[in-house]
Amino acid sequence: SVLALVIVAAGSGSRLGAAMPKAAVKVAGKTLLEWALEGAGSAGVAARIVVTVPPGDRDLRLVCQKFGALAVEGGATRAESVTAALTALSSAQSQPGFSDALPTGVLVHDAARCFTPAQVFHRVASALAEGKRAVIPVVPVVDTIKTVDDRGYVTGTPARTDLRAVQTPQGFDLPTLLEAHRQVGGLPPSIAESITDDAMLAETLQIPVATVAGASESFKITTPLDFALAQALHGGADK
Ligand code: C5P
Repeated sequence: SVLALVIVAAGSGSRLGAAMPKAAVKVAGKTLLEWALEGAGSAGVAARIVVTVPPGDRDLRLVCQKFGALAVEGGATRAESVTAALTALSSAQSQPGFSDALPTGVLVHDAARCFTPAQVFHRVASALAEGKRAVIPVVPVVDTIKTVDDRGYVTGTPARTDLRAVQTPQGFDLPTLLEAHRQVGGLPPSIAESITDDAMLAETLQIPVATVAGASESFKITTPLDFALAQALHGGADK
């Protein structure tokens, strides 16, 4: 199977408290997007790469150019950014250095998970090659998780053994992901915002979503604490 890779990097990084888009923040002199493109590149699973960048951005577009990835403007929410990438993917001419064959599957990856090990990409790609229509990398949950109501009172405690924390890249066969995203455009922004991953859309279509093992190294850089961890693990001379 021929896979395309979508890297969503159009987020603002407001929770990180940076003055620039999160994917443009640097660790050891390299932007998170560069780390993500290098990591995905060394996994060697993608025949073409599309990156969603923040509207008006120039620096991240230059990074894409350097890696031969196609840059497209992201949307207001993550889900809309993925939709924009899929539209570009369906209409994209062949990219220099990549296969011309039309992709049969798509991996959707967060730029914020720029240290995902190659093995995770391989596990997701293998599951797709086996015929799974949707597959996500997951890790066990260490905290006890509770649901709460809007006044802050606990309404329940799901069994921790049933819970998984979900990572990316998430893999889909192309028709499944296109169908899943056909609905996003018509949704009000408040609902579009609550779609935090692509598997959610597949679930609403009753498409079985398979899981493979993720990795703790694949943590998402969201808060200053995550950034400190990234510096400690990968910061090199920046440490
Ligand atoms: O906000 P969150 O950390 O869940 O975002 C996950 C990923 O989605 C990030 O890599 C971010 O850059 C991307 N994103 C996007 N377009 C948006 C919002 C987020 O590409 N409008």
